Amino acid sequence: MDLKQLYQDIILEHGKSPRNFGKCDKYTHQAKGYNPLCGDKVQIYLKLNNKEKVEDLTFEGSGCAISMASTSIMTELVKGKSLEIAKKIILDFLNMIKNTKEIKTKELNDDQKTIIMSLSGVKQYPMRVKCATLAWHTLTSAIEKNKEEVNTEKVE
Ligand code: FES
Repeated sequence: MDLKQLYQDIILEHGKSPRNFGKCDKYTHQAKGYNPLCGDKVQIYLKLNNKEKVEDLTFEGSGCAISMASTSIMTELVKGKSLEIAKKIILDFLNMIKNTKEIKTKELNDDQKTIIMSLSGVKQYPMRVKCATLAWHTLTSAIEKNKEEVNTEKVE
């Protein structure tokens, strides 16, 4: 199977059966994100424990296959990490989508890198970049406890 096919299969599979869907119990942070170009919305629920570890990370919302897959992948890869590492993964993902097409972080194993890299193809389509980054910007907003809804037309 070629890499393009593998990436497509990962996105389709996550889009069809999103992980960590729903509202987790006793979340400590939450944020909303909105893509006005299509009307899609996402809500992120983050539970940090007293050691600043991501104990739970879930989401609700609706969107295209890319946005659902990207949100699902994000929750899967960030859950269980320390807040510091979570922030590094977010920055690395956004940098990969917008600039480098590479995942540099040492915090993910090879299988996890393959999963996250499945979204690298969207780089060529600016509209799709917004679909893929919506959840990641929204998670950042949740971490920072921003009250304002994330709007993909207003973030870099
Ligand atoms: Fe709406 Fe992708 S088309 S998030």
